[in-house]
Amino acid sequence: MRLILTTILCSSIFLLAGAATTLAEGDYPEDIYYMKPVIGVVFSHQLHVEDNGMDCDSCHDGIFEMEARLAENEESFTMAGLADGEFCGACHDGDTAYDANTRCTTCHVGVIGYSRAHGLVNEEGPAHH
Ligand code: HEC
Ligand code: HEC
Ligand code: HEC
Repeated sequence: MRLILTTILCSSIFLLAGAATTLAEGDYPEDIYYMKPVIGVVFSHQLHVEDNGMDCDSCHDGIFEMEARLAENEESFTMAGLADGEFCGACHDGDTAYDANTRCTTCHVGVIGYSRAHGLVNEEGPAHH
């Protein structure tokens, strides 16, 4: 009996610890970095939701699912797809927001942007160990 109770207790602590790392209802994640087809495209919730006052349902779930990097599985997650009004291109069409076919480096932070965000390099270049 005691053994069973201990097991139940341990597994519920384990479950609680697991839940603490997932996002609370209504919360959004840190910046998302896309790696496919090209490395280093950034999407910022803070910029869209806070700085530009957008509601969750302007993107979820019509344009994007609430799952980071799921869009990478779609063949149309390319500049051609965006130009057809898919994904980011639903707004970045030169009307609702600036055209995805302009200002490349706002979205494409590249290898160096990805690396900086993940502490792999500092401003001077690759980190020394
Ligand atoms: C301008 C579009 C946009 C808006 C507005 C937006 N999101 Fe997202 N959200 C995204 C994109 C893009 C992804 C990643 C989807 C993908 O890569 O397939 C995402 C993913 C998520 C995820 C999954 C995170 C993970 O780590 O898997 C959550 C949770 C989420 N959003 C919550 C929210 C909430 C809550 C709001 C409103 C406060 C919100 N989003 C508003 C575009 C948006
Ligand atoms: C529902 C509409 C919507 C979607 C979908 C959307 N955006 Fe935006 N985005 C906006 C608006 C509105 C702005 C602010 C107005 C502007 O800059 O034209 C903005 C601004 C930005 C900026 C800021 C550029 C600067 O001024 O520095 C970046 C970067 C950006 N979006 C990237 C993305 C990426 C990457 C995606 C897809 C993963 C995406 N957005 C999807 C509406 C959207
Ligand atoms: C609004 C955000 C945004 C802007 C601005 C943007 N891109 Fe992209 N780009 C994306 C996204 C999202 C993807 C798909 C995800 C990935 O490859 O990481 C992508 C993928 C690509 C790819 C690989 C897939 C393909 O279409 O061949 C190339 C090449 C590319 N972009 C070039 C450019 C160039 C050049 C510009 C400027 C003229 C530009 N992008 C501007 C968001 C943007």
